[in-house]
Amino acid sequence: MCGIVGYIGKRNSQEILLEGLKKLEYRGYDSAGVAVFTADGLQIKKAKGRIANLESKLEETPLQGSVGIGHTRWATHGKPSDVNSHPHTDNSLKFSVVHNGIIENYITLKEELTAKGHNFVSETDTEVISHLIADLYEGDILKAVQKAVTHMTGAFALGVLTEYEPDRLVAVRQASPLIIGIGEGENFIGSDIPAILEYTRNVFILNDGEMALLTRDGVELMTLEGNFISREMFHVDWDIITAEKAGYDHFMLKEIYDQPKAYRDTMGSRISTDGSAVTLNELVLSAEAIRNISRIHIVACGTAYHAGMVGKYVIEKLARIPVETDVASEYRYRSPIITKDTLVIVVSQSGETADTLAALREAKHQGAHVLAITNVVGSSVAREADDVITTWAGLEIAVASTKGYTSQLIAFYLLGLHLAQTLGTQSAVEIKEAITALRELPAQVEEILGQAEAIKVVAEEMAKHDNLFFIGRGLDYAVALEGSLKLKEISYIHSEAYPAGELKHGTLALIEDDIPVIALATQHELQEKTVSNIKEVKARGANVLGIAVEGERELQKSVDSTFLIPKTLDVLSPALAVIPLQLLSYYASLARGNDVDKPRNLAKSVTVE
Ligand code: M6R
Repeated sequence: MCGIVGYIGKRNSQEILLEGLKKLEYRGYDSAGVAVFTADGLQIKKAKGRIANLESKLEETPLQGSVGIGHTRWATHGKPSDVNSHPHTDNSLKFSVVHNGIIENYITLKEELTAKGHNFVSETDTEVISHLIADLYEGDILKAVQKAVTHMTGAFALGVLTEYEPDRLVAVRQASPLIIGIGEGENFIGSDIPAILEYTRNVFILNDGEMALLTRDGVELMTLEGNFISREMFHVDWDIITAEKAGYDHFMLKEIYDQPKAYRDTMGSRISTDGSAVTLNELVLSAEAIRNISRIHIVACGTAYHAGMVGKYVIEKLARIPVETDVASEYRYRSPIITKDTLVIVVSQSGETADTLAALREAKHQGAHVLAITNVVGSSVAREADDVITTWAGLEIAVASTKGYTSQLIAFYLLGLHLAQTLGTQSAVEIKEAITALRELPAQVEEILGQAEAIKVVAEEMAKHDNLFFIGRGLDYAVALEGSLKLKEISYIHSEAYPAGELKHGTLALIEDDIPVIALATQHELQEKTVSNIKEVKARGANVLGIAVEGERELQKSVDSTFLIPKTLDVLSPALAVIPLQLLSYYASLARGNDVDKPRNLAKSVTVE
C-alpha cells in the first residue's frame, strides 16, 4: 500500500528514485511523484496514473540533484489526482514528505493547523504531516519530525526533506514498513528491499517506533524519542534477477512457472533424507507444547486466507486438532476465545498485511503462541511471531498471488505432518506415503504447466463471459474460492465460488444457458455427490469444465470439458488443482486486455486496515 523511496548520495537522484519506484509499483499505482533538491531548491514533480506518466514528465523537464524522495500511491484519502499525489509540502514549499499509511487524527490536526494559518490544497491525510513539521521546525529537521510524530496517531512510514538542511534525509517507521539501504558515500530508504537492491545488499530493517537520520556518509538509527540504537545489518542474499521478469511477459506468468522450484525450496531440508519424517527444526514449539494444543486458529487475508482453509483441512485430517479459520480483519472484533493452549497461525506472503499483523498482536496479547507462515524474512509478521515457517517462494511481485499461495500450502502440509508425527495421529507408513506424494508434486506441477496452451484456449472462451461459477466440495471448495478470487482480481469477470451442495439453496437461480461453471472434483470420497451437483447445473444450461484427477471416467461423462491433474493423495490435490485455475485467470485477463500484474484498484501489500 504505497511505496516510498529516498536517496542521498553523489549520483543524480532522479534515475534512482524512478527505478526504485518502478520496483515498488506493485504497492500502488494510482499516482507517483518525486521531490529533489536542485540548484533552484526543492523541486517536486507528480503525475496521476502509472509511473510511466511521471517518467514522461521528468523526461521533458529533468530534475538534477543528488538528494530526493519518491512515492507511488494507492489512494486512501482523496481520489487519484496530481494534487493528491505525494510528495506533499507545506505553504512555504520548504518541506517535503512521502508517506505510507494512514494518519487517523488528520482531521483534528488539519483543523488546528488551519486555525494557525496553514492552507491545505489536497484531500489527503498526508498533507498535514508536511504542515505539522513546518510548524514545529526550529532549525533542526530531526527534532521537528520527532515532535511531529508525537502529535500523530495511525500508521506512518515517512521520508522527510527540508530545503533548509539539504544534506539530511529523515526516515520514520510506525506500523508501516521501511528499510534503510547502506551504500558507499550514499544511502537509501525504501518500503521494500527491491527498491534499493540494484545499489546495495546491506540494509537495516526499522522496527515500529524507530527512525533514521541519513546523510551521504552515514546513518544514525534511533527511537522516535531520539535514543540511539544499534542494529545488525541484514545482508540480502537473493538475486536482482528474482525481481525481474526473466523473459516472461508478466511477473504473474513467471511466478506461476516458478512454482516447482518454490515447492522444492519450501520442502528443502525439512524432510529427512530417507523420506520418513518431516523435521521442522526451526520451530520453538516443543513436542510438549504441541501435545497441549487444544485448538488452532488460522488467521489471514485474501489468498493467504484461502491457503489457511486448506491448512484447516490438512491439520484436522492429519493431526486431529480442531481448527478455526478467520479472515484477519474480522478476527479481533469477534472476541475470539484464545487461551494459552491456543496455537494461532498467521499466514501472510508479504508479512506486512496490516490486518494480519493486528490479529497477530491481539493473539500474542491474549497469551497465544503465534506461528507465522510467511515468505518474507525480516518482515513484521516474521519478526513479531513466536515461531516462523518461511516459505521459500522467492520474491512475489504480481499483485495476484500464485507461488505465494502454493508455497503456503506446502508449509501447511509440512506442519500437518510434523504435528501428526508428534501426536502419533498418523502411522509411520502413512507419514512416509504422504511425504513420497509431497515430493512428487513439483514434477507434477511441471506436467500441468506443459499443458498451458490447452488452458489458454478455454480461458479465451471464458473471457467472453461476464459471470462465472466455481463449485467444489471439501478441499475442492477451498481451491474453488482461490480460483474465483484469482479470476475476479485480474480478469474482472464476476465469479462466485460455492460449496457444490450449497448452490441449490439460492444461487442456482443465477444459472442460465451457457453460463460457465468450473467444477472441481478431485476428492474421491465426494466424487459422486459432486457429480450430482454438476448435473443440477447442467440441467439448467451451464457449460461445465471439470477439474479432476487422471483416470477419472464418471465425471468426464457429466461435463462439457475436463482438465485432468496428475494422481496424488486427495489431501495434496489443492497444490495441483489450483495451477490450471491460475493459468485460466492469467489467460482470461490477457484476453480481456487487462494489466495482469497491476489490476485496477488493488495493491500487493495491504498495509492499511
Ligand atoms: O501478503 P499477504 O499474504 O498477507 O496478502 C494477503 C492478501 O492481500 C493477498 O493474498 C491478496 O488477496 C492477493 N492479491 C490475492 O491474489
